[in-house]
Amino acid sequence: MGIKALGYVVIETARPAAWDEFLCGFVGVMRTGDAVDGAALYRIDDRVFRFRVEPGTREWFVAAGYAVTDRAALDALAEAVARAGRPVTWASAAVAAGRGAEAMFATSDPAGNGLELYCGDACTAEPFVSPIGVPGFVTGALGMGHAVFSAPNFDETIVFHRDVLGFHETDMPRFQLFGPDGPSMGFAFLHADNGRHHSIAFGEGPVPPAGLVHIMLELPTLVDVGMAHDRMKRFGYPESATLGRHVNDQTTGFYVQTPGGFDLEIGCDSLVIDPASWETTRHEGISVWGHEWAWQKAMAAAQGEQA
Ligand SMILES: [Fe+2]
Repeated sequence: MGIKALGYVVIETARPAAWDEFLCGFVGVMRTGDAVDGAALYRIDDRVFRFRVEPGTREWFVAAGYAVTDRAALDALAEAVARAGRPVTWASAAVAAGRGAEAMFATSDPAGNGLELYCGDACTAEPFVSPIGVPGFVTGALGMGHAVFSAPNFDETIVFHRDVLGFHETDMPRFQLFGPDGPSMGFAFLHADNGRHHSIAFGEGPVPPAGLVHIMLELPTLVDVGMAHDRMKRFGYPESATLGRHVNDQTTGFYVQTPGGFDLEIGCDSLVIDPASWETTRHEGISVWGHEWAWQKAMAAAQGEQA
């Protein structure tokens, strides 16, 4: 039993037009037919959708949808989640079908982060065609990308994801984000049963106002990432972290703030691991180079003003 991959994300927004421009005009994903309930659906590959953007009243990351192998695995997972004291809300057949799934249940982890677990990915034979010429995204067995959440009750949340849901530890560092004398912060990078370094990750801290820290999409080449970076500047979207390369998953890319308030990491060249033989690492640094964070710049500016 275990998680196959990140399959899709569900986002609530009061600004669907802003999300549409962000996803189609900037990221280069493909809008497909709307859901029967009015949600906008977007493809990045042959899965029937990867982004489900629901019109609503707030900017909120509703859920990350993770696939399991089959119905028996999903049923076993639902039992384990219920035994762990977390909610299990089975979707109707119509709602599951709307998720491109054979069956699905919604739950949340001990920090309240929204999750959907499902089996059966519906795919389409209609080719993926980006409206702005992006060649495609790195998905397949590696899944859509990764989602990074936050958890104040960090240890309890990680135990749930590892021992109940079946994610596996990849990298379990503590980072000195506020200098060598500041408090350290726990992080957990967990992989599913595929080669992506992490399909889900957590930082130790309060859940952000938008319900998520970031999601990550992988492009085929550095040229594609550079062109996305140019588009970010052209649209005037806020850059949350400059171009850089991560130590642990080796992704080269940048972070941009989405209309939902959380970030999107767009990168390439991500490490592919062998999940069967991987031994947990504890890296000490976040970036090989680059990744100057907007909050670091703001702190430096504030300190400059005080000096
Ligand atoms: Fe990331």
